[in-house]
Amino acid sequence: TVLGIETSCDDTGVAVVRSDGEILGEAIASQAELHEAWGGVVPGIARDAHRDALGGAVELALRRAGLSSAAEVDAVAVTVGPGLEICLRVGCEEAVRLATAHGKAFVAVHHLEAHVLMARLACHPPPPFPFLTLLTSGGHCQLLLTRGIGDHQVIGSTLDDALGEAYDKVARLLELPVGGGGGPALESLAREGDPSATPLPVPMRNKPSFDFSLKTAVRLAVERASEEERASPAFRAGVAASFQNAALRHLEMRLTRARDSLGCAPDTLVLSGGVAANAELRRRTPSPRDDGAPWRMVVPPPRLCTDNGVMVAWAAAERLKLGLTDAPDV
Ligand code: KG4
Ligand code: ZN
Repeated sequence: TVLGIETSCDDTGVAVVRSDGEILGEAIASQAELHEAWGGVVPGIARDAHRDALGGAVELALRRAGLSSAAEVDAVAVTVGPGLEICLRVGCEEAVRLATAHGKAFVAVHHLEAHVLMARLACHPPPPFPFLTLLTSGGHCQLLLTRGIGDHQVIGSTLDDALGEAYDKVARLLELPVGGGGGPALESLAREGDPSATPLPVPMRNKPSFDFSLKTAVRLAVERASEEERASPAFRAGVAASFQNAALRHLEMRLTRARDSLGCAPDTLVLSGGVAANAELRRRTPSPRDDGAPWRMVVPPPRLCTDNGVMVAWAAAERLKLGLTDAPDV
């Protein structure tokens, strides 16, 4: 039974997870409202909010798991990076304190590996190694060959913005709520728009690599529009839908290229990271299989795609099964 703590960005996530994949208790404190006025995550505000919320979140997750204190778990795990350093520190200090006070095993978790491994708890049957992972979050956009725990080969990476960051920037441009990330608001607006309303190029259409790129075409389209146009709901929804369409088409083309080059071994594609919560991405991604390849696409439920404590506890449980622990001075 592992207590997992996540404080790498703007969500204070805590969970108690058993090594058989049972989620015993979970708590998450979102800071969306605190960052709203600033149009993005402010590190100092995030750190203070983690400090305020973490003790209560640990208590709540333990209580929901039917436990009275961290003395009753077997191990304590925490995200050690990548993320905002001053925020990571809040989680790390608390995890080290709990592990030391109760004499528990301690596991240092890599945030991206935790996103990747989520599918092995949340999807049935769990994808066996090796598998391909499309990891799209606020900070990363990568295609990985995941061979095992701690063994991920980067096949392609973004050349500029991560996909989540591109969603956040376009959301800001359209003056949508961006506190907890602009993706969900942009996705809702896109649902009302015509994806061919604003002509946008699909980036790097002819480049023979697996890398990702997103351009400033959306910003230019908005800047070129008249004041009147910009205020019109149909224009805004059209921009949102056109951006989403171009971005997802770009992902599809990269995936098709990977499929053509790598063949069907491995035959499973895992979607992970915050943007994998997007319904349109989830709907469209199996397309490589539809046009002939027997890829099995697996994706955790949306709430487990965005940052949470469950992924940290589970990634640690996977490491503990291999006998991997860390010194608390990590
Ligand atoms: O994995 P995550 O919670 O945090 C990082 O590790 O970065 O991902 C957050 C990112 C944000 O950029 C957010 O806007 C995006 O994921 N996101 C979405 C959706 N939900 C979250 N993007 C598009 N559609 C969504 N439904
Ligand atoms: Zn994340």
